[in-house]
Amino acid sequence: MTSIIKFTTIYISILVLLSCKKNVEVAENKEETKQELINRVFTLAAYQYDFLIKKIDTLSPLLQPRSLNKDGSLRMAYKEDWTSGFFPGSLWYLYEHTKNEKWKIEAEKFTKALDSAQFVKWNHDVGFMIQNSFGQGYRLTENEAYKQAVIDAAKSLSTRYRPVAKIIQSWDTNAPWIQGKGLDMPVIIDNMMNLNLLYQATKHTSDSTFYNIATTHATTTIKNQYRDDYSCYHIVDYDHVTGKVRKKVNFQGFADESSWARGQAWGLYGYIEAYSHTGNIMFLEQAKHISNFIMNNPKIPKDNIPYWDYDAQDTKPIPRDASAAAIVASALIELQKYDVENKTSYLNYIETILRNLSSEEYLAEIRKNGGFILKHSVGNFHENNETDAPLNYADYYFLEALIKWGKIK
Ligand code: GLY
Repeated sequence: MTSIIKFTTIYISILVLLSCKKNVEVAENKEETKQELINRVFTLAAYQYDFLIKKIDTLSPLLQPRSLNKDGSLRMAYKEDWTSGFFPGSLWYLYEHTKNEKWKIEAEKFTKALDSAQFVKWNHDVGFMIQNSFGQGYRLTENEAYKQAVIDAAKSLSTRYRPVAKIIQSWDTNAPWIQGKGLDMPVIIDNMMNLNLLYQATKHTSDSTFYNIATTHATTTIKNQYRDDYSCYHIVDYDHVTGKVRKKVNFQGFADESSWARGQAWGLYGYIEAYSHTGNIMFLEQAKHISNFIMNNPKIPKDNIPYWDYDAQDTKPIPRDASAAAIVASALIELQKYDVENKTSYLNYIETILRNLSSEEYLAEIRKNGGFILKHSVGNFHENNETDAPLNYADYYFLEALIKWGKIK
């Protein structure tokens, strides 16, 4: 009898063990749900930004964290740096996701640190700086002072409109980084991302001047900045007297005729936003063509995180640009709303990007990566800094994409 009991006990134990193992295997193989993934990344983001803020809180004036230098020290953005709006923007996204007042207080503090940046007129980046900080703050709080900053920034950007060429001039010719490059009235593709600020300002004021400038710039850019395959040049240089195109050249990409990854992403997002504000079908068609160039491009690796330039050849391994992938993911989340016929392929592409960015390959370990969230982006390859580095705008578009992805049913 005792041996029967012993045998039965051993048999049951083996069964329990086997079933446990099976459960473990099932759990390991089960794909993390979308919501679990989003919560995991936001939990990490909160730890990271807490850690980062503690390192910079005592700075006076308060500066915005931008990236890491080669020696691992923090690279900060001064108020008029084109990246200064992204860190406050990410803090607004942390507040939006967590509803924790602590993040609202931090977002307000870092947004306030940008006060007066809305009056910057010497380049086009006031859109990046103000829309992503004050603009996001206004979306979440309806604080009238934030709205006024957006309107003031749109007025600043509008001063750069050049009717002779029907474009907004991106950089002044005396900007230090283009000295000696023989440019007269340069427009960079990144400029497409600043049009949203103008469209928002028309909504806030009913003054159609901003809307018209944005729409005209977007129309001219289709004509002059894009190649037949819907990839784009980084710079189109116009003649300030005649308005005619002088030359089409590279600045941040690999070569004049190459496709700089982030430039393709800026153009895609810019045209989707232009369509969402105007309903102009030409902008939607442009966005669809650009998305086709990106999504079906044989030079994009299987994880959908592009090399810093699709045609880069000079280093092995060629660095990836997680920032470009995050921008594309966020842009396609907008496009899938309008191009319903191709919704499934957009959603699959977006999911591949976001799951890969959320994997240990791209996502920082807690308290590593200087406190930033994503690894492996490229700022300006030719300046030999911010190469294979964290970037505050990679984090920003990643958090933005995750929040929007979570809302897709
Ligand atoms: N100037 C914007 C960028 O580097 O993408």
